Amino acid sequence: MRSIALAVVAVLACGCAATETSLHTRTAFFVGGRYVGDAGKEVVDGQMYVEVLSPARITHRYPLILIHGAAQTGVGWITTPDNRPGWADYFLSKGYRVVVVDQPRRGRSAWHPATNLALRSFNRTWVELLFTSPKAAAKWPQAANHSQWAGDGQQDAEFEQFMASQVEFVGSNPETQRAMQQAGVKLLERLGPSIIVAHSQAGPFAWLIADELPANVKGIVAIEPQGPPLQEAVLWNNRTRPWGLTDIPLTYDGERTSTSPIVGVLEEAPEAPDLVKCWRQAEPAKKLTRLEQVPVMVLVGDASYHTPYDHCTARWLKQGGVNVEFVRLSDKGIHGNGHMMMLERNSDEVAAVVETWIRKLD
Ligand SMILES: *[C@@H]1O[C@H](CO)[C@@H](O)[C@H](O)[C@H]1NC(C)=O
Ligand SMILES: *[C@@H]1O[C@H](CO)[C@@H](O)[C@H](O)[C@H]1NC(C)=O
Ligand SMILES: *[C@@H]1O[C@H](CO)[C@@H](O)[C@H](O)[C@H]1NC(C)=O
Repeated sequence: MRSIALAVVAVLACGCAATETSLHTRTAFFVGGRYVGDAGKEVVDGQMYVEVLSPARITHRYPLILIHGAAQTGVGWITTPDNRPGWADYFLSKGYRVVVVDQPRRGRSAWHPATNLALRSFNRTWVELLFTSPKAAAKWPQAANHSQWAGDGQQDAEFEQFMASQVEFVGSNPETQRAMQQAGVKLLERLGPSIIVAHSQAGPFAWLIADELPANVKGIVAIEPQGPPLQEAVLWNNRTRPWGLTDIPLTYDGERTSTSPIVGVLEEAPEAPDLVKCWRQAEPAKKLTRLEQVPVMVLVGDASYHTPYDHCTARWLKQGGVNVEFVRLSDKGIHGNGHMMMLERNSDEVAAVVETWIRKLD
C-alpha cells in the first residue's frame, strides 16, 4: 500500500505519467576480445561489457539488445537526462529481458593506448547543433520543429547531464564496425535468438551481426541508423559506406567480397521537398541474402538531422529484398523529436511505437 501511495505522489509532483523503475535482477559479463601486446604485457582489446536485466515475470520470448550510438554508453538506456527511467525500464515493465552493452573500447569496455586507435569526441557546439538545440543552427529544415528536448538544450541541468554522459570513441567507422560485429556475434551466440534495438552509429552493427548470424536475430529496430547509403548527407557530402549500409563487407547475392560489388545510382529528384535524393542500386539489384531473413523496422523522428534521409536507408533494404517497415514518428502523431528520441520528454511514447512492432515478433 505504502509504495502505491508514494508512486501516486511522485506522479502528481512531476505532472507526468512516468514509467516507474521496474524491479529486476541483473547480471553482467564480457564477451569477445583478444589479447594484444607483447608477451607478458598483454591487455584484452575488443571485449564488450554486457548487462542483462530480467523482470520478475518474463512475458516475451526474445531478449532485447539495446545498442547505443556514437559518444554514448549504455547508460542512455537506463536513465534520461531529466532523471526519468529510460527505455530499459520501459521494456522491463512490459515483461522483456533487456540487454544493455557498452560498445567495445568505450565506457566499461576498455580502450587501450596499445591499440593505437585514434579517439574523437563531440564538443559542446556539436552536441547542441546535432541533438539538443538544433533549431538555432538550422542545418536542416525540419530542425525548426524540434521541441521534445527536456529543458533549453544549452545550459540547464538536463543539458549538463547529457553533456556529462558523452565519452570519447574510436573515430574509424570500419574499425568500430569490425569490433562490434565480432563482439555482437559472440553475444548472440551466448544469448540465443534475440531482437536488436540499435541507435544511430549502431545501425550498421545490427546489419553486420545479422549478416553473420541471421538465425539468432529475430528482428532489428533501427532507430535513425547511421546513413544514408553510399554518400553522407545534410552535414557532409563525402562518399562513405561502400556496401550501402556499412563500411565493411556485407553479403550480397550470397557472397561477401572484400571489395564492394555495389553499383549505385542517384535518384533524379527527391521523394518530397526537404528530403535528400537517395542513392539506390542499379537494377538488377543485388540481394542482401542474409539480411533478407530478418524483419526490420527503421524509425525516424520529424525534427532530426536523419529526417531528410532515413527513407533512403529503408529503401536500400527493401531493394535488397529485406522485409522492412519504415516508420516516421509523425505518421503516428508524434512530433518534435530529434535524434536522441529515447532521452527526450516523450521517450515512453516513442518506446510504445517500438514495443508495438516488437510484440509481433513473439
Ligand atoms: C566541434 O566539433 C565539430 C565536429 O567535429 C567541428 O566541426 C567543430 O570545428 C568543433 N568546434 C570547435 C569550436 O572546435
Ligand atoms: C513542422 O511541423 C508541421 C506540423 O507537423 C509540418 O506541417 C511542417 O511541414 C513542419 N515543418 C518542417 C520544416 O518540417
Ligand atoms: C566526411 O567528412 C567530414 C568533414 O571532413 C568528416 O568529419 C567525416 O568524418 C567524414 N565522414 C566519413 C564517413 O568519412
